[in-house]
Amino acid sequence: MHLLFFEFWIALQGRSEFQNSDIPNETLNKLFCCRSEANDLALRLARQYTKHEDVIVLDHAYHGHLTSLIDISPYKFRNLEGQKEWVHVAPVPDTYRGLYREDHEDSVTAYANEVKNIIEQAHKRGRKIAAFFAESLPSVGGQIIPPAGYFQKVAEHVRKAGGVFIADEIQVGFGRVGKHFWAFQLQGEDFVPDIVTMGKPIGNGHPLACVATTKEIAEAFAATGVEYFNTFGGNPVSCAIGLAVLDVIEKEHLQAHATEVGNFLMKLLKEQKTKHPIIGDVRGSGLFIGVDLIKDQAERTPATAEAEHLITRLKEEYILLSTDGPGRNVLKFKPPMCFNKEDAKFVVDTIDKLLTGNTDQSSLRRGGCWTALRYGKRMSEPRENVHFYLSRFQTMFKIHY
Ligand SMILES: Cc1ncc(COP(=O)(O)O)c(C=O)c1O
Repeated sequence: MHLLFFEFWIALQGRSEFQNSDIPNETLNKLFCCRSEANDLALRLARQYTKHEDVIVLDHAYHGHLTSLIDISPYKFRNLEGQKEWVHVAPVPDTYRGLYREDHEDSVTAYANEVKNIIEQAHKRGRKIAAFFAESLPSVGGQIIPPAGYFQKVAEHVRKAGGVFIADEIQVGFGRVGKHFWAFQLQGEDFVPDIVTMGKPIGNGHPLACVATTKEIAEAFAATGVEYFNTFGGNPVSCAIGLAVLDVIEKEHLQAHATEVGNFLMKLLKEQKTKHPIIGDVRGSGLFIGVDLIKDQAERTPATAEAEHLITRLKEEYILLSTDGPGRNVLKFKPPMCFNKEDAKFVVDTIDKLLTGNTDQSSLRRGGCWTALRYGKRMSEPRENVHFYLSRFQTMFKIHY
């Protein structure tokens, strides 16, 4: 069992971007295998290391369903019991519709100063910051690409206050952003988080997750004498799957594929922006793309109903997309990594057709959709549906054991 775990960790460490940038080899060289509680474990590590309690999160963030993680997920806690006193919420570094936009002279410093102010306010109340906890690219927050250099400045403020920087790569890691293996690397070569959490793509559908951290943080955790014990974490089947996923990413050049297809998809979507005024912004990296739908150019009012209508109509054309962002107006493109140019063209042609033609709201129907995925065939029998979708998923996700 442990041999597989080590083999998996060595493979993870040795992957291209890791090697090039020396990131985990030099610093993030301790790994904990777990399942959906990866972010909870990151929280424990940060608190144990810093001996502080408080956490700064980005607005509209989602970090998981555990009680501790709902507490640090404004997207959830705003609809539940509200904000705990140890949680502080910083504005999303969104340069399209946030506090400081593309016309701001230094949005990086301005957004980072918001975090600095939060720390100062917290200190005045006698509170101490354990961590700044953020997705490397805020997804639920609206498919946001933080301006490069923001994390470095935030990390500086947070570390000065005795806290650590936690990057949640659960959605955006493993080559999805194309240019890099990890999304936090988009911030610049000089940025390394103190803790990185990984999930979803690490097991390609299989429940596997990991937390990587520094020797110092891991040692502070171990120093309690309370051993880290996890029945299922690091089990041989999960590790074998993790290894297979890394092999497929490497052998099928999925990171380069994400760049190529993502650039192509962005180009097609930007062409649509010039054609349809409802498209206010197209942003992204690799196969992580957001299309911000607006009612008017001046105010950039979120086109919420129109976005809902569009994804419902797309569903009728066998394309599954969902919306994100506080205004639920950002079309979220995060397809499986095997999504190709033909799929991209099919999706954009269909969006074009729908935006050009009838946008009659009367055909709006409710329905939850997830990742962009193309179904090739209409089904009538529910049973037939299940078999079709299962085999389609197996093919689309290319699971190789
Ligand atoms: C950014 C992010 N972090 C954490 C999680 C939690 O992962 P899980 O659902 O595997 O517990 C999610 C799930 O959607 C997520 O999007």
